[in-house]
Amino acid sequence: MVDVQISRPSTQPGLSAVAQVLDDVFGMVAPATMFRVGFMNDLVRSDQLILLAGSAEEPLGALVALRGRNHIEMPDMVVAAEHQGGGIGRRLFEAMTRWAVDEGFREIRWSVSPSNVNGVAAYLAYGARIVGWIDNAYGVASDPFYTGTTDRFRGEWRADERPPIVETKLVHHEDHAQLRSLLLSGWQITRRQGDLYAVVR
Ligand SMILES: CC(C)(COP(=O)(O)OP(=O)(O)OC[C@H]1O[C@@H](n2cnc3c(N)ncnc32)[C@H](O)[C@@H]1OP(=O)(O)O)[C@@H](O)C(=O)NCCC(=O)NCCS
Repeated sequence: MVDVQISRPSTQPGLSAVAQVLDDVFGMVAPATMFRVGFMNDLVRSDQLILLAGSAEEPLGALVALRGRNHIEMPDMVVAAEHQGGGIGRRLFEAMTRWAVDEGFREIRWSVSPSNVNGVAAYLAYGARIVGWIDNAYGVASDPFYTGTTDRFRGEWRADERPPIVETKLVHHEDHAQLRSLLLSGWQITRRQGDLYAVVR
């Protein structure tokens, strides 16, 4: 596993580095980053989870997770473009799951674009599943990162074992109509095999 420092920043340089790496990956402009730093301070003051991979001087990745009533919601997870695929995402994700369990939570949820096939593959490789579909999640006409609609998969990680699988279908990752239909009927995506997703119930 990659040797990178994961810390929980609570002062301005570390929080600015988190905001910077998030906005670099998503191609946001400086004013958005300034707002995000303010939000990071709110998250620290309300004892939410902010993780920085690397250092304030050289941020390599970041993750944000929020306590809900019964689950943890993860709004953000990124690794700097030139470091993707090297295991930093796994380190961040595992640090989050340890924190969640230590805090008494058994479930973590997030949203991810159905077009983000490598991001989805990473979550599945970490043992998570895609368990739902949200139509037009952001209520706007286009997604600046993936260029298209803002439909979203719902991702889920659970500390507890899942019920046995009774049926599996293989569906092409670009067949969003069929994936939508299956996910809205209770099926779940468990792994990626080349261009195909294993969809189970
Ligand atoms: C998604 C992201 C956070 C993952 O972090 P990362 O450090 O790049 O990923 P890792 O190296 O930890 O893990 C990648 C995993 O995905 C797996 N993977 C990648 N492509 C795959 C594919 N085509 N098929 C199957 N598995 C695949 C890798 O095998 C690896 O699993 P392993 O650890 O079991 O070998 C990062 O790539 C990123 O920031 N992407 C852009 C922003 C983004 O999409 N963020 C999430 C938005 S919700």
